[in-house]
Amino acid sequence: MKKPISTSNNESSQDEPIVYLNGKYVLLSHAHISVLDRGFTFGDGVYEVIPAYDKNLFRLQHHLQRLNDSLTAIKISNPLTAQQWQQSIEQLINNNPYDDQSIYLQVTRGIAPRDHRFPHKENPTVFMMTTPLEEQSSEMSVSGISAITLNDNRWKNCHIKSISLLANVLLLQEALDKGAKEAILLRDGYATEGAASNLFIVQNDCLITPPKGPLLLPGITRDLIVEIAQQQKICLKEQNISETELHNAQEIWVTSSTKEIAAVTRLDGKIIADGKPGPHWHKIMQAYQGYKRTLRTS
Ligand code: PDD
Repeated sequence: MKKPISTSNNESSQDEPIVYLNGKYVLLSHAHISVLDRGFTFGDGVYEVIPAYDKNLFRLQHHLQRLNDSLTAIKISNPLTAQQWQQSIEQLINNNPYDDQSIYLQVTRGIAPRDHRFPHKENPTVFMMTTPLEEQSSEMSVSGISAITLNDNRWKNCHIKSISLLANVLLLQEALDKGAKEAILLRDGYATEGAASNLFIVQNDCLITPPKGPLLLPGITRDLIVEIAQQQKICLKEQNISETELHNAQEIWVTSSTKEIAAVTRLDGKIIADGKPGPHWHKIMQAYQGYKRTLRTS
């Protein structure tokens, strides 16, 4: 395990998390930004969620590349180099006590008088925090989760990991209110992704996930599953999934950095296959856990 790196800016407390704000490490209760920050007034910013296992970052370079792509798409210059990001994130991780962590980072267009036009001078706000990363419940691997389908009413730039998540929040809450754990979104008769996850189905023993493009987030977990399938010579196709194919699938999974690979065993109240995570899920999940184990010992 790596040792905490101390800086003169650091603060410490027994039980309060330390967060990063614009180059400083401070107690969460001491981290303040102006109400004029464009993240607050416009949702004008982007974010990443990166898991760390035994304080080792999961696919950091992939997350930093996606962050850079999101920043480029919304025309904010990346405020830190890849090396500076890595150092700052590692320092944050080492200054917090938990072994497994979920790092949340966001970059906004910064503080400026409220005006839709971009401010003349760029001064992005960078905020990072980390929370304990919970182990997936054993119940989930026995019974899976339930999901419902909902109309994908988001904008058409879903590849940008925008902090403007109101549509996703409303969709996920609707699923929860209806007793499900996730919403699988349908646009023009095709499934795109979950409210906070990517989508895979198994059809004729082949894994299928929708191709990357503006209608879904290019998930880091999704990419690892694609890589695992290629390494293990498991049939995998990146192609559109119609609503009918979704409902007739052998298996359905939703994937994300925090959910990992969750098998959907009930969709719109109907049981999928025999109501348990299927054999393809077990196989990919085993490889995924193996990947995590390698990371832990690195
Ligand atoms: N969300 N699609 C959407 C809309 C998401 O919000 C997420 C993850 C994913 C999966 O991406 P990844 O495998 O890189 O985590 C797909 C994060 C976890 C969140 O918003 O908290």
